[in-house]
Amino acid sequence: MYQGKLAQLIQHPSHVGELENPSAMAEVTNPVCDDRLRLSIRVEDGIITEARFKVYGCAPTIATGSMAAELIRGKSLEDALRITREEIDRAVGGLPHTKIHCATLAVDAIWAVIDDYRRRNPV
Ligand code: FES
Repeated sequence: MYQGKLAQLIQHPSHVGELENPSAMAEVTNPVCDDRLRLSIRVEDGIITEARFKVYGCAPTIATGSMAAELIRGKSLEDALRITREEIDRAVGGLPHTKIHCATLAVDAIWAVIDDYRRRNPV
């Protein structure tokens, strides 16, 4: 059903799971389809050094969750917040129109986990 890079990512996602003692963790839910995406991150000196994801939902969200974890690794919090839905869509090889919101869920998860980090580490 899914092809190319998207199918590859769905079948062989990277960064699956949950970090032990993460610097921050957040879970977001799409209120319409009810899919959930959880991100946990480790932050050292303002840089996201590690990220893991868990998905409870559709196959494309496995790909977008995996890509979100991949793209934020090595980035500062500020740079991670600049990642867009379109960037994730491109990086997973292009989502079907009806699944574009799976990329939105990934961006929402990035925002939520960084929000959690900032709540835990107020300046
Ligand atoms: Fe809704 Fe994937 S179908 S996030």
